[in-house]
Amino acid sequence: MTAASLPADARALQAFGPGKIILLGEHAVVYGHPALAAPLSKGVRVVGVPAAKCLIEAAEPALKPEQKEALERAFAKVAKAVGAPGVSVSLSSDLPVSMGLGSSGAVAVACARLLLQAKGKPFTPEKLESLALLMEREFHGTPSGVDHTTSARGTMLLYRKRGPIRAVKARRPVKVLVALVGERTATKVTVAQLRERQARWPKTYRRLFDEVGRLAELGAKAAAAGDLAQLGDLMNINHGLLCALGLSSERLDAMVHQLRARGALGAKITGAGGDGGAVIALFQEPEPTVAHLLNEGVSCFSSLLAGPETL
Ligand code: PMV
Repeated sequence: MTAASLPADARALQAFGPGKIILLGEHAVVYGHPALAAPLSKGVRVVGVPAAKCLIEAAEPALKPEQKEALERAFAKVAKAVGAPGVSVSLSSDLPVSMGLGSSGAVAVACARLLLQAKGKPFTPEKLESLALLMEREFHGTPSGVDHTTSARGTMLLYRKRGPIRAVKARRPVKVLVALVGERTATKVTVAQLRERQARWPKTYRRLFDEVGRLAELGAKAAAAGDLAQLGDLMNINHGLLCALGLSSERLDAMVHQLRARGALGAKITGAGGDGGAVIALFQEPEPTVAHLLNEGVSCFSSLLAGPETL
């Protein structure tokens, strides 16, 4: 039996792109400072079956019409760059969309990986990342690259937009609770508004960004040493600085405080923030708190980010 005569399902290709969280350093990373980021266990899965054309079936029900259009535009870009292999791609995700958990980076990595597989030639990690970036740009404008790089590498990173990117090997498991709070504006809008505020207060904002970058470097050391108490403290300080930068809200702060009161070692917003979005809390064992919060109607889950068993 030739490949062409196989049933479509038997010839299906599959790829996965994990979502991400930023433990320390969002926004400052756009201005060249390091950020500590890690992949989530949740992410985006794509399946590709042979087809006459290279196309994406934007069947993901959580997407708004404008998000579907952006997805199709972004996919067309990467498809063209790969040479448009004849494959029809469908997408499924267990990652909340537009909540600061890197869903667009995960889509970009999963699609780029699948299209490269469909070409049937070996490819380098650099090739995968550069194609995923093409897609990310369509979603985010001028992203720092932290989302798709963390998704593509699948490991905790001390990420820099320019300069060395370092994998962080954690001596002890790093587990977080991720809570979802309301809705939020698009990352590119929040990033643009911050840029306007920064232009009004350049020196003050530079000092705040410098400090956020230092927290990320210290956090990478704390995670590597397995010092969760220190990592939690750094997250709390980072949240304070994000508030100073105008990136939190009453309801995000309320969730941060609730999680600290329930014993989190540290809690902060993750991703772009704004009015709503995702809050992360570092726990040695997040599961009991996840169960409590779910009972109270809070949308949340836990994820192992790094640790000896993920190396
Ligand atoms: O898309 P989000 O909400 O996960 O935010 C990405 C992180 C930012 O630092 C706010 C933007 C960027 O490009 O790094």
